[in-house]
Amino acid sequence: MTSPSVLSAPPSTRDPEWWRQAAVYQIYPRSFADGNGDGVGDLAGIVSRIPYLRELQVDAVWLSPFYPSALADGGYDVDDYRNVDPRIGTLAEFDDMVAHLHAAGIRIVVDIVPNHSSDRHEWFRAALASPAGSSERARYIFRDGKGENGALPPTDWTSIFGGPAWTRVPDGQWYLHNFAPEQPDFDWSNEEVRADFRETLRFWSDRGVDGFRIDVAHGLAKDLGRELPSQAELDALPKDGSHPMWDRDDVHEIYAEWREVFDGYDPPRTAVAEAWVEADRRARYASSEGLGQAFNFDLLEADFDADQFREIVSFNLALAAESGSSTTWVFSNHDVVRHATRYGLPPRAGRTEAKQGKQWLLSGGTEPQLDAGLGLRRARAATLFELALPGSAYIYQGEELGLHEVADVPDQARQDPTFFRSPGVDVGRDGCRVPLPWASGGPSFGFGANGAHLPQPAWFGEYSAEAQEGDPGSTLTLYRNALALRRELQSGEELEWLDDACNGEVLAFTRTNGWVNVTNFGSTPVDLPAGEVLLTSAPLDGGRLPGAATAWLRAA
Ligand code: GLC
Repeated sequence: MTSPSVLSAPPSTRDPEWWRQAAVYQIYPRSFADGNGDGVGDLAGIVSRIPYLRELQVDAVWLSPFYPSALADGGYDVDDYRNVDPRIGTLAEFDDMVAHLHAAGIRIVVDIVPNHSSDRHEWFRAALASPAGSSERARYIFRDGKGENGALPPTDWTSIFGGPAWTRVPDGQWYLHNFAPEQPDFDWSNEEVRADFRETLRFWSDRGVDGFRIDVAHGLAKDLGRELPSQAELDALPKDGSHPMWDRDDVHEIYAEWREVFDGYDPPRTAVAEAWVEADRRARYASSEGLGQAFNFDLLEADFDADQFREIVSFNLALAAESGSSTTWVFSNHDVVRHATRYGLPPRAGRTEAKQGKQWLLSGGTEPQLDAGLGLRRARAATLFELALPGSAYIYQGEELGLHEVADVPDQARQDPTFFRSPGVDVGRDGCRVPLPWASGGPSFGFGANGAHLPQPAWFGEYSAEAQEGDPGSTLTLYRNALALRRELQSGEELEWLDDACNGEVLAFTRTNGWVNVTNFGSTPVDLPAGEVLLTSAPLDGGRLPGAATAWLRAA
């Protein structure tokens, strides 16, 4: 078996196409590494782990928000778009981090949260201090209420985190927040808002940021000038570009303006849209006249199932070709139950594993029973499958350690607003945001010199980077070997199914340059096609590929 011992050269920093097949590592900064021992991850912590990221051979890191924030939604409630939270660092430290990342051949993508600010943003404070109808209020979405003295909200809309989507301010008006009350939605028909975000994009681009991940990209444009529909009416409206709230056609006018900003840099800055839209409408976000790339969460939402995986891959490659973009693959991120855990839950009729993960969390991780070993075997197989696909792969911090979701975060330690706003319905996303275990023991398992802002379970030690270092069978070693080989083998964006080797439980494809991937989704060993075995997610069983495993080969 090939075990890449030398680091393959990082791609050229000037290559404008770098993003097309990049392996992007998502850092949730407050939970990655704590440099100053205050229990919260920070930029100094990230810098200290650049050797680790370099050894992992990722092409880029994407940082979830690190901006000043009251953390009503884990930082997705931004007080100031052009600064660093003092608990996380300073702008000077940010510049230093960018320089270090670039020196290591790693690009940096930052998260932009344009749908809403925090309620502590200076514009929202000014809006509250100004009268109804003022230009300060016009940057957000304020409306008069209904009923006597306007005491009822303008509509019955519910927020995505649960509870009403309108909150009343002291003078009696109401403002719209599609997420938490601390996250007032901007009015994107206001040119001041548009100009300000272009300024923010330039601010970070000038500091050397290579690209942007756009939060809730399908929500910015709204048409609320009309008689407002009820929630039931809103839900029933087609999402065909004319919906008053989501995925409106005119949102792309905003991204065309952003494209001009991106293209003003050499190489052009890139962007990837977080857009939860109908699959056939994703291409607009991925257009080279818009953001350029869009997340596809189809594999994340699928079961560990050969037929589903094949259909999703074929469909998304065709879609990407249509938009001239490349596709994206994601199994885990800061919003969902980690995939090692999802794949270890017994299937239940009518539920995808992603939804079932939530169900399991609600029970505190007891019901249904988790098969942690099976979950991890499948996750390793799925990851190798993903890393062999054309397109960019997004890896969420900790998945390279095979980390499971932390199911039993105590209620009093929980931070996610979805937990507080939907008691008993959604336990929230804290279980995938628990600070990483770097060491097998010691304070906060090496996360920092002291504690961690979310409690880590005792089992974290055996999943730590330290425990896995040098172990040829560890998940960390698997990710390192896979990412190194991927760099070496990656060429064009073709994929051809090897139909002779495929059946209801096995998927095999080649990248047409001799690189072959075979994944066994079943439980009995299967024969491998002829060729040199380069890497496997599990030891071969008498030369055959066992169940829940993937092999990479160089075709004979
Ligand atoms: C996105 C983020 C999520 C956040 C929400 C509101 O979906 O990924 O973490 O809560 O937007 O900003």
